[in-house]
Amino acid sequence: MRFDGQSFQCSMLEGGVAELRFDLKGESVNKFNAPTLAELTEVVALIKANPEVKGLLLISGKEVGFVVGADITEFLGHFQKPEDQLIDWIMSVHKLFSTVEDFDFPTVTAINGFAVGGGMELATSTSYRVMADNAKIGFPETKLGIYPGWGGTVRMSRIAGADNAIDWIAAGDTHSAEEALKLGIVDMVVEPAKLREGALDLLGQAMAGKLDWKARRLEKLSPLKLNAIESTMVFESAKAAVGGKFGPNYPAPLAAIETMQRGSTLGRDEALAIEAKDFARIAKTPTAFALVTNFLGDQYVGKIAKKLAKAGTKVESAAVLGAGIMGGGIAFQSASKGTPIVMKDIDEKALALGLSEASKLLSKSVERGKQTPAGMAKVLTQIRPTLSFGDFKTVDLVVEAVTENEKIKKSVLLDLESQVKDEAILASNTSTISITRLAEGLRRPENFCGMHFFNPVPRMPLVEVIRGQKTSDRAVATTVGYALAMGKTPIVVNDCPGFLVNRILFPYFYGFNLLVNEGVDFQRIDKVMEKFGWPMGPAYLLDVVGIDTAYHADVVMAQGFPDRMASKVKSAIGAMFEAKRFGQKNGKGFYQYVPDKKGIPRKQADPDSAGILKPLVQKDNSASITDQDIIDRMMLPMIIEGSRCLEDKIVDTPVEVDMGLLYGLGFPTFRGGALYFADRAGLKAICERAGTFKSLGKLYEPTAQMIRLAETGSTFYEAR
Ligand SMILES: NC(=O)c1ccc[n+]([C@@H]2O[C@H](COP(=O)([O-])OP(=O)(O)OC[C@H]3O[C@@H](n4cnc5c(N)ncnc54)[C@H](O)[C@@H]3O)[C@@H](O)[C@H]2O)c1
Repeated sequence: MRFDGQSFQCSMLEGGVAELRFDLKGESVNKFNAPTLAELTEVVALIKANPEVKGLLLISGKEVGFVVGADITEFLGHFQKPEDQLIDWIMSVHKLFSTVEDFDFPTVTAINGFAVGGGMELATSTSYRVMADNAKIGFPETKLGIYPGWGGTVRMSRIAGADNAIDWIAAGDTHSAEEALKLGIVDMVVEPAKLREGALDLLGQAMAGKLDWKARRLEKLSPLKLNAIESTMVFESAKAAVGGKFGPNYPAPLAAIETMQRGSTLGRDEALAIEAKDFARIAKTPTAFALVTNFLGDQYVGKIAKKLAKAGTKVESAAVLGAGIMGGGIAFQSASKGTPIVMKDIDEKALALGLSEASKLLSKSVERGKQTPAGMAKVLTQIRPTLSFGDFKTVDLVVEAVTENEKIKKSVLLDLESQVKDEAILASNTSTISITRLAEGLRRPENFCGMHFFNPVPRMPLVEVIRGQKTSDRAVATTVGYALAMGKTPIVVNDCPGFLVNRILFPYFYGFNLLVNEGVDFQRIDKVMEKFGWPMGPAYLLDVVGIDTAYHADVVMAQGFPDRMASKVKSAIGAMFEAKRFGQKNGKGFYQYVPDKKGIPRKQADPDSAGILKPLVQKDNSASITDQDIIDRMMLPMIIEGSRCLEDKIVDTPVEVDMGLLYGLGFPTFRGGALYFADRAGLKAICERAGTFKSLGKLYEPTAQMIRLAETGSTFYEAR
């Protein structure tokens, strides 16, 4: 028997072994898309009908791995189908995988590289699994708002036990061969070079009757081996823990447990039917749509960045000017990802602080097992602290991260330009100041751009690469490449005050200021916005950013967009700044921060704050302002400014706006980004709601694009 398809190739080996290779032609990885599933159905039918086959080896033809899972680009098309059609589609895959499970000969999957999601679900339908010792397996579906729907909940709970299946499926992590072997999810672990040989050996033993593969299958076809008390203990305690951890906005992990529980007393086929039905329901939740859209958005911006970076110069060594909060974080990130970096400051103490910041971050990753002590020492040697420009002649790129002050930055950049080689790229980490303006006076403005990191640098994935009027393509490409090398997600944005993310964030803060001026308690606003999904409310966020930093940025934004961002009355940010309450950094802002036993500042209410904000209130309307009003008054300016950024061509697509907010601000992921959120709410409804806040000023005035899209029933995403 020979089969030579686009995704699968099958041939007969000696002794009646069919070797089925998964090797999707024209792709670097194997994934289950519609043609692949159709082809698998075809080849499985051929194998079933062939009396010569006495055993099956399922193996990957790709060195990188077995299968990365189902093709996520097809997900939304499936999820949009009517529920019965979606169930039919899932049942067709169940039928396929069950046919493999029901072959009347033993089957073995050889797992190399990665086997996740749908790939693991196919692997669990074979009798045995052999895994390369460096491979990783898992079920990442909950990260996309769904859970394994191709038999994963049914087979995993029967193979590994309900408790382990819950752990793996709810968390969505990937796991090592060692962990998988311990739980019996795989049967043998071998060196990568011996994978095929090992899998064939195991298959041979099963074919020779030395292993009872039929007994193993019977376990997978039967209900779970739990009595009523054990079942209640496992499922109910897991539901309480997982429900509490993920909360109502991320329903998939809890739903996965409920599905497993419902199927636990049933045989395979009935349990699979339940899984299909439940999966169809969870795939239709707004969370699943948002998380899949975010995933595709991530791929989209990643692809643009990688393509852009090709035109750049590789950064072999870098430098950072300024060893403050940001400079220290940038040095750490660069060194830990393999690009050596020189860190310069004018202040010896700052330099020591920058280094200690980097070593603190490294110690944390050693504690978490992500780094070895030797690795930590190596990273530290890649950061060279200095007070002089000595080493700057050799570096390819310098990030300027000195104090946010236009005059200081301009003079520092001018000085810096004379200290580096002609082709070196200078990139400013300014949060708000125009890159075009900072380039004035430079001799080589084409080599200058913005490289805006977010705080804390190691945790926030976004880097905005800002193109000034004179910035060259090479400067952009080189900076994008460096950001990628640092493990970040770069998004290229055109120059304007605040660039993309802060330009959209500040209108949100203005929404906050206006509410406080109408007497709404800032703690109430924080609570409402945290319930909406933000990791922290606006007042808490301002405290973390630093009230002084926010105040200075506010001035820049007001100058940049006076028609809508210049406040005529004193704002909450201004009042806190005048009171020298700079937030977490000096222990007092909207809240007060008291160090706990470990020295970590903990947020507490501060009785003095109300008194500082009271004089701002001209007329107290707080009693008539509902929680929904608070959400709308905070979110509308953000959506509208996002639309303006598109119309002003700061970025090209709503995807970039949304990914910027998700990765730079921690926008609630289950809502997608601000523009996706607006699309889901409906732009007509958004424009109408904005109309009710017209008296609040231009921040609440929908843009021409929004009105046009609302009139035609379109969305930001459709119109791109
Ligand atoms: N802190 C944030 O949340 C954040 C986020 C994104 C971007 N930024 C931007 O990053 C930059 C740095 O911010 P930060 O929060 O790290 O400030 P910071 O005050 O912690 O650090 C600034 C450092 O620059 C040093 N410095 C000043 N003049 C210098 C010079 N001529 N040469 C070398 N070093 C000099 C100072 O000694 C200080 O150590 C600013 O432009 C800021 O807007 C900050």
